[in-house]
Amino acid sequence: MLFDKFGRQHTYLRISLTDNCNLRCFYCMPEEEYAFAAHAKLMQPDEILAIAKTFVSQGITKIRLTGGEPFVRKDAALILAGLATLPVELTCTTNGVRVDALLPVIKAANFSSINISLDTLNTEKFHKITGRNLFDRVWSNIGLLLESGITCKLNVVVMKGLNDNEIIDFVALTEKWPLEVRFIEFMPFSGNKWTNNQVFTLREIKDAIQKSYTIHEQVGSIHDTAKHFHIAGHRGSFAVISTMSEPFCAGCNRIRLTADGKLKNCLFSTHETDLLTAYRQGQPILPLIQANIEAKAFALGGQLATDFTQIDADKLQNRSMITIGG
Ligand code: GTP
Ligand code: 5AD
Ligand code: SF4
Repeated sequence: MLFDKFGRQHTYLRISLTDNCNLRCFYCMPEEEYAFAAHAKLMQPDEILAIAKTFVSQGITKIRLTGGEPFVRKDAALILAGLATLPVELTCTTNGVRVDALLPVIKAANFSSINISLDTLNTEKFHKITGRNLFDRVWSNIGLLLESGITCKLNVVVMKGLNDNEIIDFVALTEKWPLEVRFIEFMPFSGNKWTNNQVFTLREIKDAIQKSYTIHEQVGSIHDTAKHFHIAGHRGSFAVISTMSEPFCAGCNRIRLTADGKLKNCLFSTHETDLLTAYRQGQPILPLIQANIEAKAFALGGQLATDFTQIDADKLQNRSMITIGG
């Protein structure tokens, strides 16, 4: 089983399928021309399945597929078919652009839920944030998923002065729709020009919502990234992912596999283990996995100040978000 030296068991594996994406969100992708990894450098469907099996044999019970955008992979259906044979809860995080094209594949994968990134309800702002004029398609795709009875969570990265004025509009959606809207504090990654004064905190989000609604905090699991809230009479709910102002590392049960097959024990870890190369060379990967988890820092990869106002983004060493997958 995958315990770290703080006694935390790791049961949740996030697998990035690709660092490619059909959107260009500035907070995720470096502004300078970015070269996507060559296909041969990415884990292939049989490699993903074999590596995932090793993790499952060690107690992984939940696998989330991420990207870039996982559904730009042409072999997504093959990858999903393989992973669907494993005894795990399978989920994914997507920007929603290709949901209509892949609906049969998505239905067949039997995802327990799908998390969709959507930072604004305004068409022009969507274009400004993502570099693409695709709000209407994403919006109708969310409708398609809900009509198909698939549980959806909406991920909203809140950035001060950009979309914090839409928090109430997102909360209003939960009155009629059975959605969980998750407001995410803006986090620093390579090339995303993060500054601490753009972070709109859990406190500020709650204050903004409490001006219009009475909110009730729900008890969650110790492993949750999100703090959950409900408003009486609403079909859906909302939550806040407060990595910057109130990190939740004590209950961390997550590890990540990048699309090029590197194991990262934390979203902010600098240390990576190249499982794919070892696998291709026929080496056993379990001892490498165990050593990587053994080296996990208690919080925030051991490199982010827990007081986020003290973080100097220029000193951080990490990948860009698009190559980690969140
Ligand atoms: P659930 O499994 O549905 O709870 O989703 P999730 O929050 O684990 O995953 P998702 O891909 O939807 O990510 C939402 C936000 O949470 C993104 O900004 C992620 O970067 C962030 N996130 C996911 N896992 C972690 C984590 O282990 N630590 C931190 N600090 N943030 C995380
Ligand atoms: N800060 C917070 N969340 C981010 N995401 C991408 N970049 C950032 C960032 N800099 C979110 C996306 C996606 C999830 C995997 O990570 O909105 O839903
Ligand atoms: Fe786990 Fe790192 Fe996220 Fe903290 S920041 S919850 S240690 S992955």
